[in-house]
Amino acid sequence: MNGDTIICNCNEVYRNEIIKAIEEKGCKTVEDIGEATGAGTICGGCIDDIQEILDQHAGSKKE
Ligand code: FES
Repeated sequence: MNGDTIICNCNEVYRNEIIKAIEEKGCKTVEDIGEATGAGTICGGCIDDIQEILDQHAGSKKE
């Protein structure tokens, strides 16, 4: 999977920026990602994709 994939077209947020927000800022919800990166805050069309990334990364991390 390519980290350069654009996830949020409205704010030009890339997959690797979202992953970084999860790993470095501890974002756990779509709202957290929106605050950290701006993704998902305009049309909302990318929210499913953000959720998918959250699911993938939450599962691979020990709390
Ligand atoms: S594509 Fe992300 S808010 Fe529109």
